[in-house]
Formats: sequence, structure tokens, C-alpha cells
Amino acid sequence: LNLSNNFITQLHALALPYLEQLDLSGNQLDLISEGAFGNLARLEHLNLSRNRLSVSLGSNSKALGSLGRLRSLDISMNGLSNSAAELLLRNKSSLDQLKMTGNVLIKLSPSMFGESKGITNLIIEDNLISEIEKQTFEPLSRLESLNLARNNLASICDFTLHQVKYLNLSRNSLEFFVTCEDAALYSLEVLDLSHNKLLYFPILPKLNKLKHLYLQNNLLGALGSEAVMVTEVNSLYQDIMKLMPLAYIDLSFNHFTSFPLETLSLLFSLETLNFSHNFRQIRFPSLKCLDLQKNSLTSVSPFFLKALPQIDTLNLQENQVQPCGFLMKSLPKIFDLNSSCVAFGQLKTLKHLNLRENDIKILPPTSFQGTSLISLNLAKNNHMVIGEAALEGVQATLQSLIISEISMNSSGLSLPCMPALTNLNISNNRLNKTPGSLACSSLKVIDVRNNAFTSLNCSLLQTLSLNQTAMFISGNKFNCYCSGSSRWQVIAFRCFSRRCSNDFRTADIRIVII
Ligand SMILES: *[C@@H]1O[C@H](CO)[C@@H](O)[C@H](O)[C@H]1NC(C)=O
Ligand SMILES: *[C@@H]1O[C@H](CO)[C@@H](O)[C@H](O)[C@H]1NC(C)=O
Ligand SMILES: *[C@@H]1O[C@H](CO)[C@@H](O)[C@H](O)[C@H]1NC(C)=O
Ligand SMILES: *[C@@H]1O[C@H](CO)[C@@H](O)[C@H](O)[C@H]1NC(C)=O
Ligand SMILES: *[C@@H]1O[C@H](CO)[C@@H](O)[C@H](O)[C@H]1NC(C)=O
Ligand SMILES: *[C@@H]1O[C@H](CO)[C@@H](O)[C@H](O)[C@H]1NC(C)=O
Ligand SMILES: *[C@@H]1O[C@H](CO)[C@@H](O)[C@H](O)[C@H]1NC(C)=O
Repeated sequence: LNLSNNFITQLHALALPYLEQLDLSGNQLDLISEGAFGNLARLEHLNLSRNRLSVSLGSNSKALGSLGRLRSLDISMNGLSNSAAELLLRNKSSLDQLKMTGNVLIKLSPSMFGESKGITNLIIEDNLISEIEKQTFEPLSRLESLNLARNNLASICDFTLHQVKYLNLSRNSLEFFVTCEDAALYSLEVLDLSHNKLLYFPILPKLNKLKHLYLQNNLLGALGSEAVMVTEVNSLYQDIMKLMPLAYIDLSFNHFTSFPLETLSLLFSLETLNFSHNFRQIRFPSLKCLDLQKNSLTSVSPFFLKALPQIDTLNLQENQVQPCGFLMKSLPKIFDLNSSCVAFGQLKTLKHLNLRENDIKILPPTSFQGTSLISLNLAKNNHMVIGEAALEGVQATLQSLIISEISMNSSGLSLPCMPALTNLNISNNRLNKTPGSLACSSLKVIDVRNNAFTSLNCSLLQTLSLNQTAMFISGNKFNCYCSGSSRWQVIAFRCFSRRCSNDFRTADIRIVII
């Protein structure tokens, strides 16, 4: 009989001796006469959710007490306190499923289920439970599924429910989950501890059948390094983890700052690991200078970059990071946004970047667009190719550029017009031509040592001569005749004058260092 969602406020007598299921949910029932259910001898499923059973409690509980054969009962959302619920659960030895979601229970004690010990499936979501007395659930020997999500529990200090297979403690305020130390086999297969305040991995039963562990949205990792965390609980932990058949673990939205490798490597059966959305809580609001030299980093997560709103100087020398480029029209596939690359463009305040020795092969277009780069070191990225548009976005701010020791030849190097550039180091390559665009720059120091130059572009030299440029030129194959003088200026003059137009005056180049 489905009488749900009506305006029934009182119930006096139902003489339906064969009725097995009765749905009275969503009424305004506040009074059930003591004898109202006296003639419902076969009733097994009763739904009384969303009523006002807490009003005439004495009468209501007596009426319910006469239903000793009930197998499922729903008394959710009735404004029930602990004592009210206890009264309504008298004489329920056949009860298998009980739902009490959305009431105002604050404490669970053994007396609550004293007369309903056969429960297998218990749902008490969304109450105010902050305390569970010892021996509340232990006597419920058939209890398999227990849902206590959305309550106020602060810790589970002595979990002892061997019989439970499914336990949901999501959305409480748990800081700890600790199993009582015993050698018994626990039936636990699914444990949901998500959306709590756990600081440590839960201490699980030594022997268990756990397959799904939900730990997302906690504070795991917030207490610092794994080493500290692991050694503190490890003696307890290592054996447990090794034996655990865990196949799925969700660690997303925690506070890890490093990957808890040591702990997770013990999970031999793991098939799915969700580690998304970590590192995001870190923030270094004032950090200006960060040195990450020589760390074998292959990537730096966008969340980490986001945590550096004031970064000025970043040293990534001797790592393995690849700058991201952005999709531009008809670029080869290799330029595609690559999840393992570093999006430097996020670092708006970045002025000095060292990417020396990162094994970068190709500098994609607009690698640094969005930054405020003043100096950039790309040295010793062997055979790196710098494309036309690689420096797009920073060509107006860049003052110092180091692209030495790359073994690049002139076809692998093209630079945009960089008006602010004052220092350029293209030494130790195989260049035989300077990029024409250098005429845009007001260079003060240029190092072209150890390349394959036989001559230097005259009009370029002319431009450079306006800026008192220091040039380092040794280790090339300049084919000029430089006779017996010891004065650099003369040598330079002779070298250049053979190849340059007559009005070129070396006197304007103040320093030439060979
Ligand atoms: C009781 O009825 C409500 C609808 O009013 C429903 O959401 C709930 O699932 C029912 N309870 C059971 C145990 O079937
Ligand atoms: C308990 O339920 C049974 C029916 O299963 C009934 O005969 C008995 O009177 C009930 N006891 C009380 C105290 O109401
Ligand atoms: C646990 O309960 C929460 C809240 O009702 C629910 O969202 C979640 O899906 C449940 N977890 C599992 C594993 O069933
Ligand atoms: C991992 O967790 C995130 C956040 O909850 C979710 O969006 C994503 O789908 C999950 N991934 C897998 C493989 O379950
Ligand atoms: C991502 O970048 C790495 C390193 O440059 C490269 O080996 C890999 O093939 C790239 N992946 C894709 C999908 O482009
Ligand atoms: C240019 O780079 C090389 C390293 O490749 C370095 O030895 C040299 O001192 C640099 N030149 C200047 C002018 O700093
Ligand atoms: C010399 O540089 C100028 C720009 O400064 C360029 O237009 C010209 O093509 C270059 N000449 C040679 C021979 O590379």
C-alpha cells in the first residue's frame, strides 16, 4: 500500500492482515495510535520517512513496537533524537535494513540497537553524531554495510568491526582512523574516508579484504615529508600494506607535496591510483628566488607554478624539463601542448630563468610568452633547435640571452628582433653566420668564441660599433691577415677592413677580446 506524499497526520487503525509493504513516507504523520498496527501481522517493509514521529513519541513507539516481524524500516527525517530513535527500535529482532538519515542523533550507544541485533544494512547519514560508544555495533553480528557519512565524528580510535564489508565515513571530521591491533580477519572491502581531515593514512586491519579505499579530500601529506609520516606509523604499516588486496585508491585533493612512493609501493595489487589535485594547497606568496638545480625534475606541475605569484628568479639548471609551446597554425605535432612540459607562461613575474642543461631538443613557439623575462640561459642543451617564434612574447624585454654549447649550426638558430638585448652568448657552437635580426639590438657584450665564423657581417659590426660593444671572438676561422702588430685594434681593423666597406671605423669598437 503506497500512501506516500499525502497529508495524513494521524493513523488509528489499519486492519490489513495480509499487507506486507506499507509506504507512508512524506506525510505529516505525528500520531500513530498504540493499536494502529495491531492488525498488520505480515507487514515486513515500512517506510515512515519524512514525517513527524518525534511528536507523540509514547504512542508512536508503542505502535511500532507491535511490529516484531519488520524486515526493513525507514524512519529518516523525523526529527528523532537518540532516545526517540531507541524507543522506535524496540522489538525489532527481525530487522534487516534500517535507515535513519537526516535526524538529530548525536550519540550512538549499545542500547540503541539492543532489540534489533539482526541488522545487516544500516544507514545513519546526515545526523550530528560525534560519539559512538564501545559495543554499539559489535553485537550486530550480521552487520555488513554501515553508512555514517555526513556526521560529526572526529576520530575512529579503535575500529573493531570484523563483520562489516562496507563502511562509509565520508564527510565527517575524522583526523585519525586506527584499527584495534588484533590478528583477526576483517571483512572490510570498501572503506570511504573521503572528505575528512585525515593527516595520516588510516591504520587498517592487519588482515583484511580491502579493495576500494577512498581518501580524497583529506589533509594527507600536509604534515610534511613522507619520511616523517612513514616512520611514525611504519612499524604498524608495512606488514598491513603488503597483505592488502587493495585495487583502487583515491588520494585526489590531498596536501601531498611529494609522491608517497614508499607507502604506495607496498600495495602490490593496486590497479587504479588517483593522485590528482595534490600540491595545490602550497603557496609561496612572497617567494622571489627559487633554485631547483640538479634534481632530475622532468616536469613542474601547473599547481606548483600557481603557488609562485611573485617569482622573479628560477633556476632549473640540470633537470629534464621541456618548455610548453602553444598551438599555432599548422605546426608539427611535436609542438602540441604536452602534459609533461612546463608552462612558463604562467609565471607572469618571472625575470630570470636558467634552463641550462635540460636536454631540450626543440624550443617550441612562444615558450615564454606571458613572462617578463630579462635573462634566459639555454646553454648546453645539446643540438637544441630554436625556432623562429620561440622567443615570441619576450623579445621586447629580454636583455641577456645565453645559447652557448649547443652544437647548433646557423640553420638551427633564428632569433627575432630584440631591441632590449644587451648581452648575447652564442659561443661554443658551429655557427658561421650571425642572425641578421641582431641589428635590432643594442648589444654591449657579444661572445661568439669557438664557432665556425670566417668573417663577421659588416653591417652588423657597424651597428654594434655604436654601442661600445665588447666582443669575444677567439676560436674561429677568421681568414684575415693580421701582421705583426700587438695592438688589438689594429688587428681588428685589418681583419675587418679586408671584408668591410671603407667607411667602417674600428675606432668605434672599444674592446675586442680575442
Ligand atoms: C522511503 O521513501 C522515500 C521516498 O519518500 C524513499 O526515498 C526511500 O528510499 C524509501 N525508503 C526505503 C527503505 O525504501
Ligand atoms: C513484539 O512483536 C511481536 C510480533 O512479532 C508481538 O507479538 C509482541 O507483542 C511485540 N512485543 C511488544 C512488547 O510489543
Ligand atoms: C559514501 O557516502 C557519500 C555521502 O552519501 C556518498 O557520496 C559516497 O558515494 C559513498 N561512498 C561509497 C564508496 O559508496
Ligand atoms: C580522480 O579524481 C578526480 C577528482 O575527484 C576525478 O575528476 C577523476 O575523474 C579521477 N580519476 C580517475 C581515473 O578516477
Ligand atoms: C611530450 O614531450 C616529451 C618530451 O619532449 C616527448 O618525449 C613526448 O613524446 C611528448 N608527448 C606528446 C604526446 O607529444
Ligand atoms: C659564454 O658562455 C661560455 C660557456 O659556454 C662561458 O665560458 C663564457 O664565459 C660566456 N661568455 C661571457 C662573456 O660571459
Ligand atoms: C648582415 O646583416 C644584415 C642585417 O644586420 C642582413 O640584412 C644581411 O643579410 C647580413 N649579411 C650577410 C652576408 O649575412
